[in-house]
Amino acid sequence: MVRHDDAGRNGQRQSVLTKRPRIMPRWRGTVVGLAALLCCLVVANTAPANEGANPERQAVLEMIGTIAFESPDLLGGTAAALGMSCSSCHPRGGTQTRLFINTLSDKPGNVDVTNGVFSPLTEDNIINPVNIPSLFGARHTAPFGRRGNFETIADFTIHAVVTEFIGQHPSELMLEALVAFQNTLDFPANSMLDSNGTLTDAASDSARRGEAIFRRPGACATCHKPNDFFVDHKTHDVGTGGEFETPSLRGTAISAPYAHDGRFDTVSEAVDHFVGFLRLDLSDEEKTDLVAYVEAVGATDARTVLTEEQALRKRFADLGGLLRGLIALDDRPLADLAIGEINRSFKAIQMYYRDPPHRATRAVLAEWMEALRVVERHVLAGEAENALDALTAYEKRVQEDALALSSY
Ligand code: HEC
Ligand code: HEC
Repeated sequence: MVRHDDAGRNGQRQSVLTKRPRIMPRWRGTVVGLAALLCCLVVANTAPANEGANPERQAVLEMIGTIAFESPDLLGGTAAALGMSCSSCHPRGGTQTRLFINTLSDKPGNVDVTNGVFSPLTEDNIINPVNIPSLFGARHTAPFGRRGNFETIADFTIHAVVTEFIGQHPSELMLEALVAFQNTLDFPANSMLDSNGTLTDAASDSARRGEAIFRRPGACATCHKPNDFFVDHKTHDVGTGGEFETPSLRGTAISAPYAHDGRFDTVSEAVDHFVGFLRLDLSDEEKTDLVAYVEAVGATDARTVLTEEQALRKRFADLGGLLRGLIALDDRPLADLAIGEINRSFKAIQMYYRDPPHRATRAVLAEWMEALRVVERHVLAGEAENALDALTAYEKRVQEDALALSSY
């Protein structure tokens, strides 16, 4: 089934998360959502704050968006019933390369999003699974959708929620939050590339030779512009069955398979296609160099993966941070939205730890949630001082309480 990339490396959970893909019963969807939520949120939070905007408000919106992105309640219909959220397909904003839903997927990482199962509004009566795109770097890669039909992330988000997954139209604030979160998503760090998209000394000689080939007139760089995150913001017919938007080549190490329908399993297969399509006359060595280059562009630096315990503490510390932001802002509609989302996320956490082996963990988490609810009540009552006191006590507990995580 649906294994989260990092969750797999994250020890204990692996056994649960590597089961054969099938359509997910309710609890499994929850496992996916929560696996996404438990694993390090290292990719977010590094974006520059929106200029002109109130940075505290922006930070709060990003945190709300992070939670909502993982909330099944955002979607409607079958997706919600299965416990799916945006994160089920875009874990932490990336792409769920293992997602496989019987009857909707032809290979892992692909899903037919124009089907009557999720939404009668998009049913096209064609089995046409599409590869789930990563949202990393999305703020640099407009337009959106494989066919580039949507100008902005906000437009696509409304489309996803309302049309694809028949959820309720998000409120203006909720939409702002979802967009704020997606705007924080950076491409994965890659020390082989500098900020202009040029290889650094960390890359191999072969990749460096490939870079020169890539940039030859009439080769690849006209569409995959290195100094514009390897996109040109346009759609083209490149012999894959229609007009599709030029995807970035960043992060391909963690996004296979490739192209709109995932037809290429490896970078090498994709490069072969383009060399043939463009009728480039390359020797075998030149082809090898070009592949080495495209792989270097798509590489990702090793990332710190948090243990389950670290992830849980961070998760709860972040919720505290969100409440601290709300106290500072004193904005009732924002507080209502945020607290609603926090309480919803409690349900997912309780669901995840409901099995008997988790009794001790569940008990501690229940106390943390209760301590947070005390803060929430003070926030909603406008009692800033009490809220801050309760929050400080809560934060101390989240740092210090022992967490006996049982393994399977
Ligand atoms: C069942 C899997 C699935 C779920 C759930 C899902 N998506 Fe997607 N998402 C996809 C697929 C597949 C595409 C490509 C579809 C297309 O081009 O029409 C996509 C495309 C996108 C894009 C455009 C990316 C680009 O670069 O073109 C955005 C933005 C996006 N999704 C956001 C969301 C948000 C926000 C949610 C939750 C409300 C969500 N998605 C839920 C599978 C999913
Ligand atoms: C005319 C514009 C254009 C040129 C030139 C071009 N590409 Fe692309 N490239 C695209 C488009 C459009 C897609 C997406 C096709 C699809 O979704 O079916 C793509 C997809 C890819 C992918 C898959 C990326 C992913 O994440 O799915 C790779 C790899 C790639 N191109 C490499 C190359 C290389 C190497 C060259 C030069 C030999 C090249 N491209 C030349 C437009 C171009």
